[in-house]
Amino acid sequence: MYYSEEILDQVRTANDIVDVIGQSVQLKRAGSNYVGLCPFHNEKTPSFSVSRPKQMYYCFGCHKGGNVITFVEEYNNMNFLEAVGFLAERAGIRLPEREITDAERQSRDERTKLLEVNRLAGTYYYCSLRSPAGRSGLEYLEKRGLSQETMKAFALGFAPKTPSDGLYRYMKSKGISDDLLRRSGLMNVDEKRGSMYDKFWNRVIFPILDTSSRIIGFGGRVMGDAKPKYLNSPETRVFDKSRNLYALHLARRTREDYLVLCEGYMDVISMHQAGFTNAVASLGTSLTPGHCSLLARYTRRVVLSYDSDKAGVAAAMRAIPMLQRAGITPKILRLDPYKDPDELIQALGHDAMRERLERAQNALMFEIEVTKRDYDWNDPDSKTRFFENTAGRIAALETEMERQNYIDAVCREYMVDRRQLQELVTRRLVNPLPEDSRSGSTWTEQRQSFPRQTSGFASFGTAPGQTASLQGSSSPGQSASLQGSSSPGQDVALQGGFAVGYGPDGNGSQGPGWDTVPDMDYDPAALYGYDDSGFYEDGETGEMFQAPPTATRKNRSVSVREQGDDISRRLLLNYICRYPAIFATISRFVKPEDFGDGLTGQAARVIYGQMQRKGSVDEASVLSSFPEAQDQTQIAGIFHTLDQASSGKDREKAIRETLIKVFSAAPSGDGTDLNQVIARKKQEAELRKLQIIL
Ligand code: GTP
Ligand code: MN
Repeated sequence: MYYSEEILDQVRTANDIVDVIGQSVQLKRAGSNYVGLCPFHNEKTPSFSVSRPKQMYYCFGCHKGGNVITFVEEYNNMNFLEAVGFLAERAGIRLPEREITDAERQSRDERTKLLEVNRLAGTYYYCSLRSPAGRSGLEYLEKRGLSQETMKAFALGFAPKTPSDGLYRYMKSKGISDDLLRRSGLMNVDEKRGSMYDKFWNRVIFPILDTSSRIIGFGGRVMGDAKPKYLNSPETRVFDKSRNLYALHLARRTREDYLVLCEGYMDVISMHQAGFTNAVASLGTSLTPGHCSLLARYTRRVVLSYDSDKAGVAAAMRAIPMLQRAGITPKILRLDPYKDPDELIQALGHDAMRERLERAQNALMFEIEVTKRDYDWNDPDSKTRFFENTAGRIAALETEMERQNYIDAVCREYMVDRRQLQELVTRRLVNPLPEDSRSGSTWTEQRQSFPRQTSGFASFGTAPGQTASLQGSSSPGQSASLQGSSSPGQDVALQGGFAVGYGPDGNGSQGPGWDTVPDMDYDPAALYGYDDSGFYEDGETGEMFQAPPTATRKNRSVSVREQGDDISRRLLLNYICRYPAIFATISRFVKPEDFGDGLTGQAARVIYGQMQRKGSVDEASVLSSFPEAQDQTQIAGIFHTLDQASSGKDREKAIRETLIKVFSAAPSGDGTDLNQVIARKKQEAELRKLQIIL
């Protein structure tokens, strides 16, 4: 831990969970809770609840829960320290400085400075596009069918023709040194004369943002056919092309469970405008393993939508095994007869794209189809070799089930007799050729290292008011207005970033282009079988709960009895939190040790501690003592599980029964300590007569 409990508590309490979550999720009041659509799984009816008194959230559908820090971590894909920093800043709390080394500080300072330069450049380009000097750029983008909202969402800009040193002069007016500009990649340097020129000139500008929405580089496109078509910033201390993806800061918030990987900036922008906000692209380079592991942080499914030309197909063939090695299951989008996703959308529109996405081709079938192009169908030998090659690919699959399914699919597709193909596959299984193990290695490797992840998709947030902010990580007071410079004086309010509407974010920035985006009409929750156990508003406490689970034989590792005991213990802990007045009674009969030494036991120790210190439980701070998100979700589950009672009397009875169960399940010693045995007998008798009164 870098920060003390006190600081963490301070940060937490300064950020009300309903306010924080309410900024990203539309919440409605329901009893003492707020509910909304869960940002962590796709659902149509709200089962995501946020409680102000508990300062916790919990989804009764996918069972994710936590406190405000957990939410920020999960929703923004931040680590703990980042989330704490984010919330501290939000509440204006100064966190104590961590000790850092000189080298760390220097590197951080350099990065901060470069990001600031990029932010200024982004502002300059952004304003230029909307100034008289940007007319041609604006016309070009409009001609390509982009709406104002889209241009804003992607913070598109323009590097004017005149003045040709506009950016340089703007930077000078902001006091940026030549030295820093040289390292920013935004200038061409004439080493002989020691002078500098704007790198981007007379081009539309595509700022490239990292997942924290900071500008790390730029792409610039000519407006005609001149070469090079695109010019990109060189790599700098903040711009690593192989570890960033275009528009990932937007796409990571999609509610879809897959990402679409395109080749070009324009493809991504077109996709987003058409409502496919899960599209990303690599940055004018081919796909690297770095990109793949970045993707794998967000999803296990990627639809490749590379250009349909020869180069695009070759790129897809290279990308497939690379994605598989990262544990991703790729599928391939068929674009023909169109060249790229942008063209397809312009020609056929949203529905056609959606349909093609749904029908995206399985990667192995794609590979087989592409290899077929190398064989001559009219030459019997060549044809045989094709099927031998295909049999090799199928033989490399891990399970018999998969092999059979692919044999079926290939027979259907290529009109070949099932037994014949089966024979080839069997032969390859018995007697693999060297190249089988080569092509097979990618598959087996993938399966072995990620045995169960093909359906375990990372969670995505909703797509609310995502902001392509030009905001630096530096001080907020440094607003980037353009006054006093020679540049277009159009003072677009860029302070604090420009709010860009993506869906209903409640701040009115939803442009007309966006509300035509249709609702997605399929529900992964149903697909992945979340147990939709439902939830209810408790008449006694007015809070929302789910019913306790039932112990089943399905869980082989824990006996039904142990499961039942744990369910009772968790229930009892929640009773204590809901009805602090009964703690004195309960703690006479069961001690924290009686809750076992698992997660429930750990929670019991924290809860007993808080009760003894201050007579009540602060649920959100209980969560804070569990650093692992998985544990937090489980503990949040405890606080949201209660059995339904039709009256106060009912509840009192249920508490008493639960107490008796937990008492009986507690280890009672080995029976040799006579005093202990007697004490326990006495307690048992007392328990039988006990009345719980709420
Ligand atoms: P439009 O032609 O405007 O529709 O763009 P596109 O996105 O369809 O471009 P294309 O398919 O030709 O290229 C895909 C991506 O490769 C672009 O988005 C760039 O990132 C990159 N790229 C294309 N041309 C060049 C170039 O001339 N130089 C560099 N460095 N990158 C390029
Ligand atoms: Mn294109």
